[in-house]
Amino acid sequence: MSSWNGAQNQRTLFLLLLLFVASSQGATPSLKGCLVSQSDNGSSISCHPPARVPQYLPADTIFLAVEFFNLTQLPADTLHGAPHLQELHLSSNRLDNLSAEFLLPVPQLKVLDLTRNALTRLPPGLFQASASLDTLVLKENRLEVLEVLWLQGLKALRFLDLSGNRLRTLPPGLLANLTVLRTLDLGENQLKTLPPDLLRGPLHLERLHLEGNRLQELAEGLLAPQPGLRYLFLNNNKLAVVAAGAFQGLRQLDMLDLSNNFLTSVPEGLWASLGQPTRDMKDGFDISGNPWTCDQNLHDLYHWLVANEDKMFSGNDTRCASPKALKGQTLLAVARSL
Ligand SMILES: *[C@@H]1O[C@H](CO)[C@@H](O)[C@H](O)[C@H]1NC(C)=O
Ligand SMILES: *[C@@H]1O[C@H](CO)[C@@H](O)[C@H](O)[C@H]1NC(C)=O
Ligand SMILES: *[C@@H]1O[C@H](CO)[C@@H](O)[C@H](O)[C@H]1NC(C)=O
Ligand SMILES: *[C@@H]1O[C@H](CO)[C@@H](O)[C@H](O)[C@H]1NC(C)=O
Ligand SMILES: *[C@@H]1O[C@H](CO)[C@@H](O)[C@H](O)[C@H]1NC(C)=O
Repeated sequence: MSSWNGAQNQRTLFLLLLLFVASSQGATPSLKGCLVSQSDNGSSISCHPPARVPQYLPADTIFLAVEFFNLTQLPADTLHGAPHLQELHLSSNRLDNLSAEFLLPVPQLKVLDLTRNALTRLPPGLFQASASLDTLVLKENRLEVLEVLWLQGLKALRFLDLSGNRLRTLPPGLLANLTVLRTLDLGENQLKTLPPDLLRGPLHLERLHLEGNRLQELAEGLLAPQPGLRYLFLNNNKLAVVAAGAFQGLRQLDMLDLSNNFLTSVPEGLWASLGQPTRDMKDGFDISGNPWTCDQNLHDLYHWLVANEDKMFSGNDTRCASPKALKGQTLLAVARSL
C-alpha cells in the first residue's frame, strides 16, 4: 500500500514538474513571472518581484506595471514596441532620473504612476508627446522645486498628485496650460507661500489639497479663479491669517478642512459664501485644533456655526484657548449660549 502511494506521489510530482517546465517555456521567456492578461483592447502586463523586469513588450500592450523592484534606471527605449500603451505604473522603485525621450513612443498614455521613487527633477520635454495624459502621480518623490517646462505638453491632465515631496516654492504659471485639471494635490510638502496666480489656468478645479505644508496666510485672491471648487484641504499648516475675502465666490464648496492651524480669529464675512443660509455643504467643515480666542470678534463665526452645526466635524476638539474664563469650552457651546 505504502509503496503504491509512493509511486503515485512520484507520478504527481513528475506531472507537476512537467507542467511547470511547460508553462515557463510556453510563456515568452522575457515576461517570466509577470502576470499577463489579454482583452479585446490588448495585453496587460503586471510584474512584481520575484518576477523579472520585462525585456520585451507585446506590441498590443495597453497596461504595464513594473513595481517594487527598486530599479534605479530604466533604459530610454523601455517603451519602444508598445505604441498603444495607456497605463504605466512604476511605483516603488528608486528612479532618480528619466530620459526626456522616455515617453515619446507612447502618445496614447493616459495614466503615469511614479509613486514612491527618488525623482529630484524631471527632464524638460518629458511630456512633449503626452497630449493624452489624464493622470500623473509623482507622490512621495524628492522634488524640491518644479519648473514650468517640466509639465509642457500636458493638455488633457485632469489629476495631478505632487504630494509627499519636498516642495518649498512653486513657480508662477505652473498650471497656466492645464485647463482641464480637476484635482491638484500638493499635500505634505514644505510650502510656506504660494504664487498668487497658482490657480489661474484650470477652468474647473474641484479638489485642492494643500494640507501638511507650512502655509502661514491664505490671501484674498488665491481661490478666486475657482468658484466651482468642492473640496479644500488646508489642515495641518501654520495658518494664522485668513483674508476676509479668501472664500468669496466659492459657491460649491462641500468640504473645508482648516483643522490644526494657528487660527485665533477669523475676519467677519469670511463664511458668507459657504454653507447655510444659502446651501448645505454636502460633506462638512473642520476648524478643530486651532487656538481660538473666544471674544466678540468671533460673533460672525458663532452665528455661522449654529446655522451649520450638523456639518461640523470634530466639534469636541474645537475649543477656546482664551480668554481665561472660556478656556477649554467648545466653540459650539459658547456660540449656542449667546
Ligand atoms: C476596451 O476599451 C473600451 C474603450 O476604451 C472600453 O470601454 C472597454 O472597457 C475596454 N475593455 C476592456 C476589457 O478593457
Ligand atoms: C527593495 O528595497 C526594500 C527596502 O530596502 C527591500 O525590503 C526589498 O526587499 C527590496 N526589493 C527588491 C526586489 O530588491
Ligand atoms: C539624467 O538622465 C539624462 C538622460 O538619460 C542624462 O543626460 C543626465 O545626465 C541625467 N542626470 C542625472 C542628474 O543623473
Ligand atoms: C502653453 O501654451 C502656449 C500656447 O499653446 C504655448 O506657447 C506654451 O509653450 C505653453 N507653455 C507650457 C509651459 O506648456
Ligand atoms: C471630548 O473631549 C474631552 C477633552 O478633550 C475628552 O475628555 C472627551 O472624552 C471627549 N468626548 C467625546 C465624546 O469625544
